[in-house]
Amino acid sequence: MPLKNPSSTGKLISFEGSEGSGKSTQIAHLARHLQEAALDVVTTREPGGTEIGEQVRNIIVHNSKGDEMCAETELLLFAAARAQLVREVIAPALLSGTIVLSDRFLDSSTVYQGVARNLAMGPVHDINQFAIGNVMPDLTIVIDVPTEVSLARIRQRASDLPDRMERENIDFYEKVRKGYLLLAKSMPERLIVIDGTQAEAVIQKQIWQAVQKRLGLGTSGKTSASTASATAAKKPAAVAKTKISASIAKPAAKAKTDATKPGKKSIGRTKSKTLKR
Ligand code: TMP
Repeated sequence: MPLKNPSSTGKLISFEGSEGSGKSTQIAHLARHLQEAALDVVTTREPGGTEIGEQVRNIIVHNSKGDEMCAETELLLFAAARAQLVREVIAPALLSGTIVLSDRFLDSSTVYQGVARNLAMGPVHDINQFAIGNVMPDLTIVIDVPTEVSLARIRQRASDLPDRMERENIDFYEKVRKGYLLLAKSMPERLIVIDGTQAEAVIQKQIWQAVQKRLGLGTSGKTSASTASATAAKKPAAVAKTKISASIAKPAAKAKTDATKPGKKSIGRTKSKTLKR
């Protein structure tokens, strides 16, 4: 059963990037812009965004047995959380014409599990597809920061110990960064890269301009099918098999884990409806 009605005016915008790239801050800014344009907005995150998804998130990132989790299990857990989020939150929101902003979506699995953990791209792609059905992002904003910046920001976070993913080494995060840049290059119709080292206000402006230009949102106060149809990114992007350069798909780094940190940041819903977190 299709989860997304192609004629629906709802849009899915995903944010991607390494830890500390500033996604959460920029999602909040974009949500505000969209609301000021009288659009309905829901923000969510992956893994998480539903009660089941948040429980899965805890298993992945705050698991005392995390050292023993193999990359395949990790991929399937992320996919499980994603499948739930799509069916419980994203698809219904899109069908009702809402703009959904997601802090991470399928591209995180392509890059973290496919590229950085070196899982075969075929299964990663197929499992992603199974999880999302026909719900592809209309636009994906990759916020790019150099790996050293990303690691420094992780260390600076006021919250307590780094979680299981955050304790990966610099090689892992180099692969993540390169993976995103390659992915964006291979699908420019869906992904745009924003330089995350710029001032917050500059990034905010660039994202808002891209959303207006690519999706026609906020230009006339409401999403209009006619405005949106004039943009290149209107249709759910074709689900092309991701071509990631073999040169960066080196043998997987073993997950270094054993975190027990309780749930960290959460993304709130920007409308009055209650979003299960
Ligand atoms: P966050 O800290 O940005 O919320 O993301 C949680 C961690 O999970 C982050 O290190 C990225 C990672 N991740 C994956 O490895 N694969 C995925 O599919 C997703 C959604 C996240």
